[in-house]
Amino acid sequence: MILLTGGAGYIGLHTAAVLVEAGHEVVLFDNFSNSKPAGLKRLEAIIGRAVPCVEGDVRSRQDLDGLFDQYPIGAVVHFAGLKAVGESQAQPLRYYDNNVSGSLALLGAMQRAEVRRIVFSSSATIYGNADSNPIPETAALRPANVYGRSKLMVEDILRDLHAAAPGWSIALLRYFNPVGAHPGGLIGEDPNDIPNNLMPFVTQVAVGRRPELQVFGGDYPTPDGTGVRDYIHVMDLAEGHRAALDWALRDPRELLTANLGTGRGSSVLELVGAFEQASGKAIPHRIVARRAGDVAACWSDPSLARERLGWTATRSLDDMCRDAWNWQRNNPQGFA
Ligand code: NAD
Ligand code: UD1
Repeated sequence: MILLTGGAGYIGLHTAAVLVEAGHEVVLFDNFSNSKPAGLKRLEAIIGRAVPCVEGDVRSRQDLDGLFDQYPIGAVVHFAGLKAVGESQAQPLRYYDNNVSGSLALLGAMQRAEVRRIVFSSSATIYGNADSNPIPETAALRPANVYGRSKLMVEDILRDLHAAAPGWSIALLRYFNPVGAHPGGLIGEDPNDIPNNLMPFVTQVAVGRRPELQVFGGDYPTPDGTGVRDYIHVMDLAEGHRAALDWALRDPRELLTANLGTGRGSSVLELVGAFEQASGKAIPHRIVARRAGDVAACWSDPSLARERLGWTATRSLDDMCRDAWNWQRNNPQGFA
């Protein structure tokens, strides 16, 4: 059985759908601080059966020890954490507590239960302002915000653990920009409050929840002046987790660090154009000042994941826009 911490969140639900489809048994564990039980019901509708989900906090050894005692867990995908960059700068202790202390408690519980296979949700944000693109895993790690530093700290903890206890199999997956939704339109991204990220903002403009998109910066040294990112379909990302788990379940007793991206960059205006095509909706937008902390361009070198995990992203920007729109159109208020 595979434990998905933070399994009720955006990437967790999509990964659970892919894992169950591939024949894995899963148990989800979540404190619902950034997700809703309604998402689980939708997951169950997709896969056609109940999925065990335990409500609890990764910072609680009591919750975790109970979980490992109750279920025959063989491997863990550790999604649980907080992920909003701006909020992390304002509330550093809360972020380090959730992301770092939460991971430490989880690793302690895994050690006690003798479960030594883990796939960890890291982020391309740990590269900070990289010297060049595409970014390989060997690039310098210089996160520019608290959220990114919390992810780097957990990576460091896992590297130290592996050095001391080589029996562990550890995959550090550095995601680029996950967007889109399950093609059935039952699950998708449902941010609280005003979305910080581009795609959910665009989809909320499309359904009339927001009047217009502000494009942060039109004077970057990129082909059209707007920021360039490596958007990856959340279903491709979910399949990347399945590949990483298959790897971990073979007990390689290695620590593997892999980018999960497409290797292609798209600008803000390209994404807006692709979304307008996919949805048939005009997205009113206006170029405003750059957002503090943004880099001009960031895309992955995804070749290591292809070579080591046999995984490549296959879905296009049009697919991402179509599926994001299908989700938002069918669920204008998200899971509410
Ligand atoms: P999400 O917020 O939708 O999912 C995270 C889940 O973890 C939520 O359901 C939340 O309730 C739960 N959670 C948070 N703190 C917890 C705690 N202390 N105990 C138990 N559950 C807790 O976010 P997501 O987009 O699905 O991201 C999943 C992981 O991937 C996160 O670790 C995030 O940092 C990482 N990541 C996300 C992105 C992205 O753009 N979405 C990019 C890079 C990395
Ligand atoms: C952000 C986080 C990153 C995190 C990632 C996924 C920052 C600095 N980085 O990445 O750490 O891992 O989200 O959660 O916050 N944009 C607009 N208008 C908007 C929103 C975004 O023009 O309303 C632009 C941005 O300037 C950027 C692009 O769209 O060029 C993508 O932005 P976003 O979706 O927030 O992702 P990142 O900034 O790449």
